[in-house]
Amino acid sequence: MSVRPQRILGIESSCDETGVAIVQLNEQGPPQLLAHALHSQIDMHQAYGGVVPELASRDHIRRVVPLTRQVMADAGLSLPDVDLVAYTQGPGLAGALLVGAGVACALATSLGRPMLGIHHLEGHLLSPFLSADPPEFPFVALLVSGGHTQLMRVDGVGRYELLGETVDDAAGEAFDKSAKLMGLPYPGGPHLSKLAEGGREGAFELPRPMLHSGNLDFSFAGLKTAVRTHLVRLGWLDESAALADPANRAVLVDLAASTQAAIVEVLVKKSLAALKETGLKRVVIAGGVGANRLLREQLNQACLRRGIRVHYPELHLCTDNGAMIALAAAMRLQAGRAEPSREPVFDVRPRWDLASL
Ligand code: KG4
Ligand code: ZN
Repeated sequence: MSVRPQRILGIESSCDETGVAIVQLNEQGPPQLLAHALHSQIDMHQAYGGVVPELASRDHIRRVVPLTRQVMADAGLSLPDVDLVAYTQGPGLAGALLVGAGVACALATSLGRPMLGIHHLEGHLLSPFLSADPPEFPFVALLVSGGHTQLMRVDGVGRYELLGETVDDAAGEAFDKSAKLMGLPYPGGPHLSKLAEGGREGAFELPRPMLHSGNLDFSFAGLKTAVRTHLVRLGWLDESAALADPANRAVLVDLAASTQAAIVEVLVKKSLAALKETGLKRVVIAGGVGANRLLREQLNQACLRRGIRVHYPELHLCTDNGAMIALAAAMRLQAGRAEPSREPVFDVRPRWDLASL
């Protein structure tokens, strides 16, 4: 007897993107993304130079129901077709997480379906399984989001061992903070990367923090301070006006290129060290910084030479989205590592260690 495929609704609201998606779990084969929709709050937060938590929560409230309707319509389904409601339980902004949890709770209860809280970073980590070139376990994962920089050994769904992590700023924060100092808009990563195009990577001397620390930890706070020192010397700290002057712009292009090169070099070398230490021949890059072109180029080159396979999420699923949350729930169910709740659980975990799963 064939079993009807299970459909999992995923809701992401941990920071400044509202994401909703529906994933189908077939009897065999990988989970399949049926539809997903996203609303980014970037324009709203840009005026403040960073995410304003209260505004984020309010906007999630406005967006989540229309996005859910859109996803159901795009998938050609209606709400009773949903078998499980998954949501981002943490880590993230408490108020923002509560919106997704509240909607998941209400929806699951009204439909008489179970619900499942998902770790946001597990969503990022598993997101390459939705790509055209999905990985196989085991692999090393480099998780590079706005708030986290971690190297993990991944032996299967829910089997995560922390190999190293940042002791201060995340790589995404190094991008964002350096970009802000240069007068670039929020979020700085993609803007800094764009500005760096055609720049000279060696034009400015910048530290490669903890490159020779002998472990797999990272530190990026010193790099940001070094960028700041260069800008103070140039007299352009926080000066978007400097960018407007073509004569100055060339210097800032060099500084952006030098900054990006320093961050990428550390990420690539530490990933290679993790691969060497574990003896694994496969690496997965996940999280927003994984969209960075230089990082992809350099890692691809280095891994090709060593016979290592590199896997990324599809570019549009690198940053936060609902598809990765629905997918993580589907993969947990498939692996028998999920405990969905039949009781409404209105519960979030703003601070939550992935290795504790
Ligand atoms: O994973 P993500 O969407 O959100 C978090 O869970 O934090 O990651 C956002 C981070 C931000 O720091 C953003 O600047 C960075 O990813 N990012 C990039 C690029 N695209 C996004 N950093 C460098 N280059 C990019 N192309
Ligand atoms: Zn994220």
